[in-house]
Amino acid sequence: MVRIVGLGAYAPPDRLSNRDFERFMDTNDEWIRSRSGIRYRHISPPEVLTSDLATEAASKALMRAGLSPKDVDMVIVATSSPDTLTPSTACVTAAKLGIGKVPCFDISAACPGFLYGLEIGSGLLRTGNYRYVLVIGVEAGTKFIDWSDRGTAVLFGDGAGAAILTEDDSGYGILSTYLQGDGRLGELLKIEVGTAYPPGSWGVRMRGREVFRNAVVQMGDAAITALRRAGMEPEELDWLVPHQANLRIIEATRERLGLPPEKVYVNIQEYGNTSAASIPLAMDEMIERGLLKEGHNVLAVSFGAGFTWASALIRWG
Ligand code: ACO
Repeated sequence: MVRIVGLGAYAPPDRLSNRDFERFMDTNDEWIRSRSGIRYRHISPPEVLTSDLATEAASKALMRAGLSPKDVDMVIVATSSPDTLTPSTACVTAAKLGIGKVPCFDISAACPGFLYGLEIGSGLLRTGNYRYVLVIGVEAGTKFIDWSDRGTAVLFGDGAGAAILTEDDSGYGILSTYLQGDGRLGELLKIEVGTAYPPGSWGVRMRGREVFRNAVVQMGDAAITALRRAGMEPEELDWLVPHQANLRIIEATRERLGLPPEKVYVNIQEYGNTSAASIPLAMDEMIERGLLKEGHNVLAVSFGAGFTWASALIRWG
């Protein structure tokens, strides 16, 4: 089975509170908290790039795994906010870590990108060509925010999370994964940077209500599919680690699975929506707090632009 042998995360120290937004935008703490659950979001300064956040998270994952950068055989970065279109943020991060010559590539799968990375990394490990694969979910998405759009500016934050995968017979690891997408709904949530947009018109555009409605359905479906693929019932779960985009979406997913609130990890209040970083950022906090224990069944589930959605069921250890 493919196992996570080290996991780490990083968020830049500077953060913006809801009250900070009140000073330059027609919004308020009560609206943001009641609609989304967000209180703070961490923001990277202009000189700190996506690859810098990724490097910090990966260094911590390597340290937890007891490995050195030279042990890594492949780097996969899931991000919607790369340093540059090319080279990939994976190549830049590998160089910053001092990894040397290894295959590196980015995947663009929005918020579920880290979970896409787990399945892709697992599949590539099974070729037998690699021993350790580094999968990173990272965003410096606040650099693309349209600070005049109150419907999106308050929602997003920056961060990174990284996992080292290997295949072994420990009995711990990734029990099942599920990836899905539907490009026909892509117009509802976009980062408008690319050949379709003239320079200078950057911004995140979202039709919040439609995204919300789809997210509620697909997060629940994804959760149930990963459980079914592993032959597991929701009651056997120790943790649900949902993508941290909106507290009400998290609540709906919890209810769909019939789980008690104490089995759902929530840190949206501190980080906002960190897209591809959100799940490993949550898992890192759970490790720090001693909440993730050997043998725990952990279900991670996510939904995002594309639309894309995904889940992974992990027996932790
Ligand atoms: N402060 C105050 N008022 C606001 C703000 C704000 N920051 N933003 C919007 N409003 C206003 C709107 O203008 C609107 O006013 P109107 O009724 O006068 O037109 C009113 O609040 C309601 O706006 P809605 O967008 O309908 O509010 P809603 O209850 O849907 O909440 C939210 C908005 C939080 C964005 C919600 O729709 C949501 O979370 N959607 C899903 C987002 C998501 O899950 N993304 C995750 C997947 S994608 C990804 O993670 C990259």
